[in-house]
Amino acid sequence: MYILAPSILAADFNILGQQIKETEEAGAKYLHIDVMDGVFVPSISFGMPLISSIRETSGQFFDVHLMIVDPIRYIKEFADCGADGITFHLEACEDVNAVIEAIRSYGMKVGISIKPGTPVEAIYPYLSKIDMVLIMSVEPGFGGQTFMPESLDRISQLRAYINENNLPVTIEVDGGIGKKNVREVMKAGADIFVAGSAVFKKRAISENVAHFMEAFREMEQ
Ligand code: DX5
Ligand code: ZN
Repeated sequence: MYILAPSILAADFNILGQQIKETEEAGAKYLHIDVMDGVFVPSISFGMPLISSIRETSGQFFDVHLMIVDPIRYIKEFADCGADGITFHLEACEDVNAVIEAIRSYGMKVGISIKPGTPVEAIYPYLSKIDMVLIMSVEPGFGGQTFMPESLDRISQLRAYINENNLPVTIEVDGGIGKKNVREVMKAGADIFVAGSAVFKKRAISENVAHFMEAFREMEQ
């Protein structure tokens, strides 16, 4: 099953609750929430108060993408404000296993993300302990960037390894995904598609989400 995870970084914060509802009603099962600390990435986005507040308007799976250094410091806080899953960066911590255990201890799903320059093999030692790998298809930090085409080989490589080893791990891809390239990314082997600009900008949200749903249906047939 394919899943769309709209990234609220591209939403209009004046009417955030309303826009989130639109994505949910149109069929997006996840909501992707990008937390940036201005250290791991140059930009600062938002944090717990915003997540607590939107938790009241949405029943979607809250897919929290932590672009922060030393994520272990805040796992409890993100659990308390309503995260369903936490994805942290392999590059952002020393004791990766400790972060995995901390996230699990609050009953949340565990994801690890790798930046475009990190070899895919770096994630292999953790695959039996996590639920999801997030392959960044742009340098993390900003929405609206162009999909890096070399990400397709990285996704295929990981897909092959996961299948060969029968691992129950899903692959999420984040950055520059839209209706023009979503099919290619699906064919490479991704399961969950993050999309910010392609969902919240240009046309109506319902119409944008519908394009993804159509691509998913086509592939599932
Ligand atoms: C980038 C973020 C992405 C971003 C995606 O650091 O992790 O989730 O919001 O935005 P688009 O889909 O516009 O590339
Ligand atoms: Zn993200």
